[in-house]
Amino acid sequence: MLDLIDKLKLPKHVAIIMDGNGRWAKERGKDRLFGHQQGVISVREVVEGSAEIGIKNITLYAFSTENWNRPESEVNGLMELLVSTIRKEAETLKKNGVRLFVIGDMASLPPNCVEELNEAMQVTEHNNRLNLILALSYSSKWEICNATSRIAQKVKNNELDLADINEDTFKQHLTTANFPDPELMIRTSGEHRISNFLLYQLAYAELYFTPTHWPDFRKENLFEAILNYQNRERRFGKISEQLKQA
Ligand code: IPE
Ligand code: IPE
Ligand code: MG
Repeated sequence: MLDLIDKLKLPKHVAIIMDGNGRWAKERGKDRLFGHQQGVISVREVVEGSAEIGIKNITLYAFSTENWNRPESEVNGLMELLVSTIRKEAETLKKNGVRLFVIGDMASLPPNCVEELNEAMQVTEHNNRLNLILALSYSSKWEICNATSRIAQKVKNNELDLADINEDTFKQHLTTANFPDPELMIRTSGEHRISNFLLYQLAYAELYFTPTHWPDFRKENLFEAILNYQNRERRFGKISEQLKQA
């Protein structure tokens, strides 16, 4: 599989909706939290696989704004898992050239989570092999409202001219300002929806859905998705013949 991938045609940014932990666990007669724990192995695989082939940015949807509405025990379990995973993995990320970023409403996370994340972002800040962007307490509608409100404030303060608001200005006010838009979006576990994830940034992304539950997702599954992406024709509104001429 790996040798079929064209290293010159890699997506610059892959975004993943890691779904199906609960169903995976249930199928095995286990607690949902067990599924989340096993999902950490898949995260490791995907980070390693991305670094190996040379992808520069991956965004993982780890916890949505809507996920706060889950039972308290699951939310607490997820937050604890996040803290312990970041604590355990920070050194490995550092060693492997991975730089950690968080997008989302960090202020809504428990203080110990924020502390752990800030520390990991700090120890990895000089890395540039791969950006690992965790979407935590993230929702796209939240992000878009936030960006709009910040732009409006700047106009009000005369720091920004109304006539200067364009796509670039808007992008600069999103949490993903420093990253290229994802070119490939993967969702595991068979659901065909976006669930409030990167609505603006995914405007022209190729979408890839797989029935594999997240805890079963391995490097090979990532490579398969990339191969599938590389075999698509991205027309951006043009017609096929125009692309062949170029
Ligand atoms: C994804 O798995 C992880 C999070 C949303 C935190 P789910 O927990 O959504 O698993 P399913 O979809 O219920 O199987
Ligand atoms: C999306 O999964 C959020 C994350 C993967 C973090 P959900 O399982 O929460 O999405 P829905 O509710 O099925 O749309
Ligand atoms: Mg789910």
